[in-house]
Amino acid sequence: MSKLVINAWNKKFKINKDLYGQFSEHIGRGIYEGIYVGEDSTVENVNGLRCDVVRALRDIQVPVLRWPGGCFADYYHWKDGIGPKEGRKKIVNANWGSTVEDNSFGTHEFMELCEQVGCEPYICGNVGSGTVEEMSDWVEYLTCGGSSPMSELRAKNGHPQPWKVKYWGVGNENWGCGGNMTPEQYGQAFRRYRTFCRNYGDNRLYCIAGGADVADYNWTEGVMKTAAFCGERRLMDGISLHYYTQSNTWDHKKRATEFDVSDYYRGFVRARRMEELIEKHCEIMSQYDPRHEIGLVVDEWGAWYEVEPGTHPAFLYQQGTMRDALLAAVQLDIFNRHANRVVMANLAQMVNVIHSIILTEGNRMLLTPTYHTFALYKEHQDAQLLDSWLETEEIGDEESRIPNMSHTASMKNGVLTLTISNLSLEQSEQIACYLLGFYGTAIKGRLLQADCAAHNTFEAAQQVKPRELQGAAFTDSGLKFMLPPCSIAQITVSGS
Ligand code: AHR
Repeated sequence: MSKLVINAWNKKFKINKDLYGQFSEHIGRGIYEGIYVGEDSTVENVNGLRCDVVRALRDIQVPVLRWPGGCFADYYHWKDGIGPKEGRKKIVNANWGSTVEDNSFGTHEFMELCEQVGCEPYICGNVGSGTVEEMSDWVEYLTCGGSSPMSELRAKNGHPQPWKVKYWGVGNENWGCGGNMTPEQYGQAFRRYRTFCRNYGDNRLYCIAGGADVADYNWTEGVMKTAAFCGERRLMDGISLHYYTQSNTWDHKKRATEFDVSDYYRGFVRARRMEELIEKHCEIMSQYDPRHEIGLVVDEWGAWYEVEPGTHPAFLYQQGTMRDALLAAVQLDIFNRHANRVVMANLAQMVNVIHSIILTEGNRMLLTPTYHTFALYKEHQDAQLLDSWLETEEIGDEESRIPNMSHTASMKNGVLTLTISNLSLEQSEQIACYLLGFYGTAIKGRLLQADCAAHNTFEAAQQVKPRELQGAAFTDSGLKFMLPPCSIAQITVSGS
């Protein structure tokens, strides 16, 4: 029997809904086929955007979507992707398999996607191979309502009204594919590019600096020191962090469905490292931003494996199992716990690339187990994180030891939501949950449970999906329920 204490008297801080964000890049079938099929496709679409995918994204309330990259962003010239489709430039997507990019999915298509999904756009501008003027023009094209060269061009292309854009990335991985810069070089570049990203009308940009890879603290330090402030004036709103849970090593990656017990536990050790990374990067940020005005944006995270057999190695197409649903739950719990500093997180990548929530094949679509993690967690969006404490046991093998459970408790509109995972491969867990400061009157529960390697295929798309959680009941001091091995539960308690 494990003990969980939830103290509803102590509401810690708001869990920004943007922690449940997604990322989509022009890689393989991530955008084309996965999201955009074109108006003439036999796949049901509205203005070229797949209805099945949009519907699924709306259902989990995706709050924000990052685009066009990734490495592609520092290679992308936005003017190639506007105007009549037949006149759009065809380019070689040199980062991702040298395929032909016909630019049929550009700014207007992306903004329409966000409108159909009901999410905020997060656009990453080109620092690596683009100019200050080009980035400045893009902001003007999107958000300027007055009479200006770019707003007139936008109107000519069929959208007289400006859009609202809040999140703006100033480059991506500029220590690598975004220009191989030093932190100081990038910091200087950020100062210039950011200066010309203007606020038009009442649109307010939230400018995010391209941040570090994993534990590159030197990068965070150098960029914060060079570019966070100009005198007293703050230039930066956020700085990013990229951290992927690798399957094995870069030279010996295994497929998503190909793992043994020690890979399983090692995966969680690696995923849990996110907490240390967030804390250490935030500590450095605090030295330069003691008032904590600059947010940490984990705009690429996920479990990255070898591609599926027979697929292009540069398309990064992988399956997703119950293990990945649990890995996602553990990472989301970490983001929730640090929601006072982490303002956004974006899973890489939304459809058909790396740790996807959706896979497509022709006119078929499936939801991966990780999609269901996001479905179970959606009640935490913009909820208050509750103070809570869970008694856990260590599980794993000699090399990799992890706590057997991970959880988040939050409160929104008088409803308490608990999401809790049992990471054990074989042990069920009975939970005694003590509720302080909250008297529950009704419980509802959902459960996602499957063998750790279980996954959905186009032939059997409903293998892994949530069902009702049986047996959750009130006790004198709170509630009790049972978690089978490899499972995630969502329990909502109404009351006062
Ligand atoms: O998500 C795939 C790639 O990983 C992105 O393009 C890049 O930013 C990162 O290295």
